[in-house]
Amino acid sequence: MGGHKFFIAGTDTDVGKTLVSQGLLEAAKQQGLSCFGLKPIAAGCEEGEQGLENQDALKIMASSSIKLSYQQVNPIALKAAVAPHVAAAMQGRKLDAQRISGFCRGALMNKADFVLIEGAGGWRVPLNNRETLALIPKELNLPVILVVGVKLGCINHALLTVEAIKRDGIELAGWVANKVDSNMSMSDESVEYLTGAIHAPLIGIIPYLIDNKAENVSRYLQIERIL
Ligand SMILES: Nc1ncnc2c1ncn2[C@@H]1O[C@H](COP(=O)(O)OP(=O)(O)O)[C@@H](O)[C@H]1O
Ligand SMILES: [Mg+2]
Repeated sequence: MGGHKFFIAGTDTDVGKTLVSQGLLEAAKQQGLSCFGLKPIAAGCEEGEQGLENQDALKIMASSSIKLSYQQVNPIALKAAVAPHVAAAMQGRKLDAQRISGFCRGALMNKADFVLIEGAGGWRVPLNNRETLALIPKELNLPVILVVGVKLGCINHALLTVEAIKRDGIELAGWVANKVDSNMSMSDESVEYLTGAIHAPLIGIIPYLIDNKAENVSRYLQIERIL
């Protein structure tokens, strides 16, 4: 299958997984790498030209150099913006790790130098009563890039997530400090603490961006640290 492939996890929902994914894809393109991203499960969709569409998936598609169909990028598009297993139940559906991994494997048949799979929410998001989303990187044998949303409480969230990733037997390829909170004081101190505590490369520190466009994110990311 060749190329670099990563699963994008976050310390929580709304910590910048999608923005960082876009930034990484932009950075890959700038290095002359062919790339695409996937968002296999998306909860929170609206009716669009190709059926139910999710904003994360559309953003990731916009940043990808290799153009896949919407269905390949986001095979499971759930309407309600709630926990995925609940959104699925609301539509009389059930989520299943094997099936989701299968969709991803299919999409990964498309050759690229750099591929990202954005998860949903944080690390222990359930798919059903037995399985969590963490099974996807596990089954696909993908190293993880952890996006830490730098805000009050993030040290705890980051360390717990790193512990869980390790416990699940998954490699942490690197992490990104994303300053999502414009009002946080002493955020540099938190990033510094985490730099000492997380034994994986820090790919970049993204400042709070008033104009939070994907093209402006790549300059803060050193993807050579994970290539
Ligand atoms: N560094 C940043 N500066 C300003 N806004 C940010 C930053 N990172 C993320 N955001 C904004 O925060 C929101 C959540 O980001 P998103 O990438 O969608 O998170 P996730 O994918 O983890 O749910 C979005 O509106 C995004 O534009
Ligand atoms: Mg997202």
